[in-house]
Amino acid sequence: MPVITNIDDLYRIYRRRVPRMFHDYCESGSWTEQTFRENSSDFDLIRLRQRVAVDMTNRTTATKMIGEDVAMPVALAPVGMTGMQHADGEIKAARAAEKFGVPFTLTTMSICSIEDVAEHTSKPFWFQLYVMRDQDFLARIIQRAKDAGVSALVVTLDLQILGQRHKDIKNGLSAPPKPTLANMINLSTKWRWGLGMLGTRRRQFGNIVGHAKGVSDPSDLMAWTAEQFDPKLDWKQIEQIRDMWGGKLILKGVMEPEDARMAAKIGADAIIVSNHGGRQLDGAISSIRALEPILEAVGDKVEVHLDSGIRSGQDVLKAVAMGARGTFIGRAYIYGLGAMGEAGVTRALEVIHRELDLSMAFCGHRDIKNVSRDILRVPRGFSGDWD
Ligand SMILES: Cc1cc2nc3c(=O)[nH]c(=O)nc-3n(C[C@H](O)[C@H](O)[C@H](O)COP(=O)(O)O)c2cc1C
Repeated sequence: MPVITNIDDLYRIYRRRVPRMFHDYCESGSWTEQTFRENSSDFDLIRLRQRVAVDMTNRTTATKMIGEDVAMPVALAPVGMTGMQHADGEIKAARAAEKFGVPFTLTTMSICSIEDVAEHTSKPFWFQLYVMRDQDFLARIIQRAKDAGVSALVVTLDLQILGQRHKDIKNGLSAPPKPTLANMINLSTKWRWGLGMLGTRRRQFGNIVGHAKGVSDPSDLMAWTAEQFDPKLDWKQIEQIRDMWGGKLILKGVMEPEDARMAAKIGADAIIVSNHGGRQLDGAISSIRALEPILEAVGDKVEVHLDSGIRSGQDVLKAVAMGARGTFIGRAYIYGLGAMGEAGVTRALEVIHRELDLSMAFCGHRDIKNVSRDILRVPRGFSGDWD
């Protein structure tokens, strides 16, 4: 196994091993990709305060997210088509998360179905819902999540219409890839990926195919989204979903204090400050800049989590020190998965954990639960000063 010391190492292997279409799907933001880039580069603007002569023994990164014990405040974010990044990708990532002691979130747009993931794991996972027009499908998928023992429903609010990512259109993104000449040439260089795919029957959208009626081309994510996702979604409907579900509810994609207040008002257990990893509204500010105003508005009413741009344990530490009770990683674990399957996801988690643990210690803390904003140096006007 190559020596992996950081997430970039995993990315370089990932890029070599995964077909271009799925690499580009992961490694894109919408339009100019400004928000995608700034999600990460804004973390770099925040610096840490080094402390010395502080006892560093017996450290712990363990805490809770929505009342569940976690080994560190990091969950795996829902990522569409994870099973195209690596054969049986959702099952592999869920197993790695379970062994590590962090939550795994399965997307509606997964390749492995809810039932499949439940069958291959032993602890409850979280399920992310896209709200569909088809009410029957919606009711059934919520019921399927309950039957599978899902412990939290994550409702994504920022993708009722799809942001444009140029490369996906140019590549003709689909699951499985269509046998065009360009795809065949590219796939012929990805033998490891191809062998994995030949060895599994899971190659289509597992939660959709065979469960949704009147779907014209279930392989085409973009067409499917345009056809099925409900652009009329509003707070009333979110309340209805809350009632249909009846369990722990996380609302994902909140970027403004006004929306955060609404989420708190309808009784969400947590919100995720997220711009979908820069994949939806290009020109939105980074999530880390959006965090503090939201904490000021609702920090005492609802648990506030954050994703978008996290590539290291230091990024996790910065978000937590600012006040996030938990974080999610998307691309950082997908790189690991595409590079080396389950072992790669585990490696991504180990890397992030080590960086988090050491940085916390250098900042003079032994327990992640005690970390606060005073370990940070934040540039003036970082979160505000916008008209
Ligand atoms: C390839 C890809 C697919 C995604 N698919 C979904 C999805 O199906 N549902 C969802 O709520 N978010 C989805 N997201 C967004 C992630 O849940 C998360 O918000 C984002 O990846 C965080 O940014 P990061 O990748 O910089 O960590 C996706 C992100 C990526 C990169």
